[in-house]
Amino acid sequence: MPKKKPYVYVTRLLPEIVLQRMSELFEIEINKNDKPLSNEELKKVFKKFEVIVPTVTDKIGQEIIESSGENLKLIANFGNGVDHIDLDCANKKGIFVTNTPGVLSEDTADIAMALILAVPRRLFEGEKTIREKNWNGWSPNFMLGRRIYGKKLGIIGMGRIGSAIARRAKSFGLNINYHNRNRVADSIEKELNATYWSSLDQMLSNMDIISINCPHTPATYHLLSSRRLKLIKSDAYIVNTSRGEVLDQDTLIELLENNKIMGAGLDVFKREPLIDERLLSLNNVFLLPHMSSATLEGRIEMGERVIINIRTMADGHRPPDRVISGTTI
Ligand code: 8YV
Repeated sequence: MPKKKPYVYVTRLLPEIVLQRMSELFEIEINKNDKPLSNEELKKVFKKFEVIVPTVTDKIGQEIIESSGENLKLIANFGNGVDHIDLDCANKKGIFVTNTPGVLSEDTADIAMALILAVPRRLFEGEKTIREKNWNGWSPNFMLGRRIYGKKLGIIGMGRIGSAIARRAKSFGLNINYHNRNRVADSIEKELNATYWSSLDQMLSNMDIISINCPHTPATYHLLSSRRLKLIKSDAYIVNTSRGEVLDQDTLIELLENNKIMGAGLDVFKREPLIDERLLSLNNVFLLPHMSSATLEGRIEMGERVIINIRTMADGHRPPDRVISGTTI
């Protein structure tokens, strides 16, 4: 007798090719209107399905997980960060949670590198000058930014994405520094010519550019607290492609407004998609709408990882990308 296909709910529209493959392999239902589900809607699907494929826009807290039915076996997240899912609660209920590691590191590192270049070199202001028809021609003191080459880059979180940024940054002549829970292998430090700082405070106060690449977990919420942000040099820049919650956004804005930090490149924010109005009036920030992993190739590979996790679970094995506590993004 053919095996029953897993009964899967997908909370957002994924690339067509991914959905097509999923519908060949699984019994799927999709949230076709592609708007984030409400709590009530989430509860309904958690009650009914065997597998849920959520994204970062689904807030899956205790109440939702506790409402799940006997059938729910796997939350196969389409994405790397799982800070929107109550992992402890899922673990307690014996529900697997998986993510999609590895496949979005290079794309995310590209955007982080783009921000590292864009902010000190004032690309946003330059572009805006042209679009607003304010360019009166070249002059020696016009649009002077800061040199990237030879500057100290401090990477917070040297996982896959952090290392991919370090590789790019090294070839741009940046000096690589990092802070991580654990020191990376000697061979990687050598390859990147990277300096490890066990003290985040000390690293922050010595860097020219800081890139945030650790996952958002209970332990990293406001890792860059108000106190720590104030340690950053007034001529330094900060780039965040991780999660808005890792830094104290209000303090960052105040520091930017008062020129106590030179500039920021932000792809992530607290309470997305809300953007603090104060950020919109600052010229020394480059703002992106959470798009660092947004490539077609990346999204297809994310879909493939989701499929592998579901299939492995359906075959009676433990899915490969299980997450117990926060992951490196
Ligand atoms: C994803 C991300 O696009 O994977 C992550 O953690 O932040 C994004 O780049 C998003 O999470 C998809 O759910």
